[in-house]
Amino acid sequence: MKEKGPFIGGRYWQSDELIEVRYPYTGELVGKVFKGTEAHVQEAIKVAKEGFKKLSSMTAYERYSILMRASLMLQERAEEFAKSLVLEVGKTIREARTEVQRAIQTLIFSAEEAKRIGGEVVPLDAHPNGKGKVGFYIRQPVGIVCAITPFNFPLNLSMHKVAPALAAGNAVLLKPSERTPLTPLMLAELLVSAGIPPQAISVIPGYGDVGRAMTTHPDVRVVSFTGSKRVGEIITRQAGIKRVVLELGSNSALVLHKDGNIKKAVEKTVLGGYAIAGQVCISVQRVFVHEDVFDEYLSELKRAVDSLKVGDPLKEDTDVGPMISTSEVERVQEWLSEAVKEGARLVRGGVACAESKALLEPTIVSLLPPHAKLFREEAFAPVVVVNPYRDIEEAIRAVNDSEYGLQASIFTKDIDIAWEFIRKVEAGGVLINEGPNFRADQMPYGGVKASGIGREGPKFAIEDYTEIKMVVWDLNP
Ligand code: SIN
Repeated sequence: MKEKGPFIGGRYWQSDELIEVRYPYTGELVGKVFKGTEAHVQEAIKVAKEGFKKLSSMTAYERYSILMRASLMLQERAEEFAKSLVLEVGKTIREARTEVQRAIQTLIFSAEEAKRIGGEVVPLDAHPNGKGKVGFYIRQPVGIVCAITPFNFPLNLSMHKVAPALAAGNAVLLKPSERTPLTPLMLAELLVSAGIPPQAISVIPGYGDVGRAMTTHPDVRVVSFTGSKRVGEIITRQAGIKRVVLELGSNSALVLHKDGNIKKAVEKTVLGGYAIAGQVCISVQRVFVHEDVFDEYLSELKRAVDSLKVGDPLKEDTDVGPMISTSEVERVQEWLSEAVKEGARLVRGGVACAESKALLEPTIVSLLPPHAKLFREEAFAPVVVVNPYRDIEEAIRAVNDSEYGLQASIFTKDIDIAWEFIRKVEAGGVLINEGPNFRADQMPYGGVKASGIGREGPKFAIEDYTEIKMVVWDLNP
């Protein structure tokens, strides 16, 4: 097994400590990387200044061409990247292939956005003091961007930060999750082979000390973090004067109204609740069903979940793979026990499978009291909670009864109900007749309340990765 390490200036660095990467399904060792240190961060910042100069002096067309070339190279190596994702995340091979295809789209959209970073004329003579002046603003790259990404989408969530930042002409320092550093390192190598200046992309695997050194460094102008609310709060407190973009958690809700398509709502609950073993920020966690269709929905959902194939992520027909670790399974099981003690009904699941302790049987819980942890916190597990409601006001109140607000959805054919839901639900995204977990990579994606600040999606990320420079020009020199 070849050991890699921090990737800085186009080469691998070493340290005196190794991080082991294990396949969540078997616990088998699948990779080792040298742990990054604060000294690596200092080196990466030094190098990034050079990378920024090189990339920002390229034309938009050159940056577009490099990123498009990278997308073709990723397509050629799609299966290799997908296998790497299976081994370090434990997601199924079909989920991993989807992630690679989405990452290609993220690259292409970022490349295209490189061509559209424009400004605007400001008609200064509209102001009483503006006579004889013209004004306009341009957008310039911020310089150095720090990206911190989680374990669930090591490729596409890294791409969502790295590709728009590079498209705008910035240098990037990426700290991937210490559990899944292998694919992000492959990504950095690929970007450099496609033509990104090696000084413009560094990947430093490591723990909180590396994150702190990056996020608090005065030369880093933007921090873009995806992960837990707890770490998001620490970063916000420590970052200093710089832009901080946060994509944090959620306990997303799906509402099925009495006139909604039950079959489709069940299908979308299964997809949104159990994909990647529920370890997605917009996984379906809380389902609210109108009392007239509650029993039918719940029995259809149970039937559909009973038929899911749970097991070996490398098998083509596996639907649900393991969670990232056995300790995560144990954590959710504690929440489930607490929920049952509080009066909830365990409809199915709740136990780990015999073949791997990291495999939690897809779980359904109903009639959960809203003060239970499983309702209030982000479960990040293959667990769906189903509760009934009487009228739409009650459903909207229940959806909003959360500190989070990333995406929420409703199944209904009634446009008045849909519009009321759109207006009143506190979330960064609302979906009608689709699950809350739907994400197309170009759309604005992000949350309100404790779900974060800012929006991703290449066009929107580029707004954060650029500074507006206003130009005022008096025509009488
Ligand atoms: C996330 O977990 O926030 C990412 C969801 C996605 O990109 O599908």
